[in-house]
Amino acid sequence: MSQKILVTSALPYANGPIHLGHLAGCYLPADIYVRYQRLKGKDVIHIGGTDENGVPITLAAEREGVSPKVIVDRYHKSIKESLEEFGIAFDNFSRTSIPLHYRTAQDFFVTIFKKGYIFPRETTQLFCSSCERFLADRYVEGTCPNCGSGEARGDQCEECGRWLEPTSLKDPRCKICGTSPEVRRTVHWFFSLDRFQKQLEDWLSGKPDWKDNVRRFCEGWFRSGLEPRPITRDLAWGVPVPLKEAKGKVLYVWFDAPIGYISSTIEWAENKEEADLWQEYWSSPDTKLVHFIGKDNIVFHAMVWPAMLMAHGGYILPSEIPANEFLNVEGEAMSTSRNWAIWLPDYLKEFEPDPLRYCIAINAPETRDADFTWMDFQARVNNELADVLGNLVNRTVAFVFRYYQGAVPRRHRMRSEDTNLLGEMEETRREVGDLLEGFNVKKALRQVMDLAKAGNRYFDHSKIWETREKKPDTCETSLSVLLQLMNGLATLMEPFLPFTARRMRGILRTELDGWDEAG
Ligand code: 2FM
Ligand code: ZN
Repeated sequence: MSQKILVTSALPYANGPIHLGHLAGCYLPADIYVRYQRLKGKDVIHIGGTDENGVPITLAAEREGVSPKVIVDRYHKSIKESLEEFGIAFDNFSRTSIPLHYRTAQDFFVTIFKKGYIFPRETTQLFCSSCERFLADRYVEGTCPNCGSGEARGDQCEECGRWLEPTSLKDPRCKICGTSPEVRRTVHWFFSLDRFQKQLEDWLSGKPDWKDNVRRFCEGWFRSGLEPRPITRDLAWGVPVPLKEAKGKVLYVWFDAPIGYISSTIEWAENKEEADLWQEYWSSPDTKLVHFIGKDNIVFHAMVWPAMLMAHGGYILPSEIPANEFLNVEGEAMSTSRNWAIWLPDYLKEFEPDPLRYCIAINAPETRDADFTWMDFQARVNNELADVLGNLVNRTVAFVFRYYQGAVPRRHRMRSEDTNLLGEMEETRREVGDLLEGFNVKKALRQVMDLAKAGNRYFDHSKIWETREKKPDTCETSLSVLLQLMNGLATLMEPFLPFTARRMRGILRTELDGWDEAG
């Protein structure tokens, strides 16, 4: 059986539109990877959806005074539409508020509960006496016990990335009314993460090629020792805990969200009317499971989720977790609460997708945070997309239409400069392929642009405006080489700039080649 590739992109919370940070973190690199694998003829599917449970949703609903359903319906639609318009191609884009997901998450819970990896424990929780409720996750803010940041949330500190419990915050306050909460006792169900430490360490030691950010993060966690984690919440919205003694409680959103990858794959198979097909992806040891995420999701994908999969049994573990760092805007971290972000629907009202795809990919936050500025956007569109790529296409095509009635000129004897350029194209295809296999989008796109620059140099040196009269055979050969290069570039560009690549093929009247046969 040929190897299958199951690619997932982190499920964005359906509590706001998509912004540039989401695109740079996972959707664009995932889409580039999937498009490339598809060109290679691989059996690849891209699975996603919106994360519609948990406190991020209920908080947004309370802020607007509407039900959580209103929020998730609105933003599922907005996110799905803007990703589609931006060319992020999913095989299935589901949602975690649908019955299929509830069932899948509950079955998952029951399976590991029956195996003894989930247990109840009386715990202390913060309770706001003025709002009269337990304060789960983001309903509390305070000082991070790890790094001292004063703006840590009850679930995670954005400053140091540490996964937190609300009771561990210093000087906690209710997010809704600002009251200092009191501590009350309640029962929650815990997942025995501690029992998987050894297995996780062994598994991660077999991944020496993983990115440093993922490995370092996990090693830090191992050093401090894994502990059982509560996976239920006192909340009125989410997947009900499937135990009669847990009435009124829901699964913690970070427990059910990654199961969303499975339920979305099930939905994909059902829509194809091959209901069991999803299992061939999730259960076959031949499948390569690749989770594209942003760095704030590392702990859940590289530790908790693999431990959940180990506890469940019968499913594969992630093969790769390419986690990107953050993209800032004009030197400042993006923040939804401060409305400091570039929202994709706003961008798409003004511009086409490819210029932004280009700017994010060429400046991808792969190993460190990167910065997006409008000045850089303008400069790259003018100096790189227009002057390098656009110029090569325009002057080649204009010449062919003007002097050859738009027909591809005949190829005669090839000179070394001709074969060198075509050889460089072959070499670029190999290198770009290797780079994309290793999730190096930025370097890969630079190689493609270097090839376009080589094309422009070749154009200048070939002096077709002189050879057309003096050495017509040479001129015709140069143009046929340039057109072949354009066709090759249209394939090489396809993963990064699919709209531009399609336009180039439209001009050339060619079909999309496979990656290996390109050119
Ligand atoms: O950080 C987030 O936006 C989460 N909604 C990501 C979830 S990824 C997966 F587990 F679903
Ligand atoms: Zn309160």
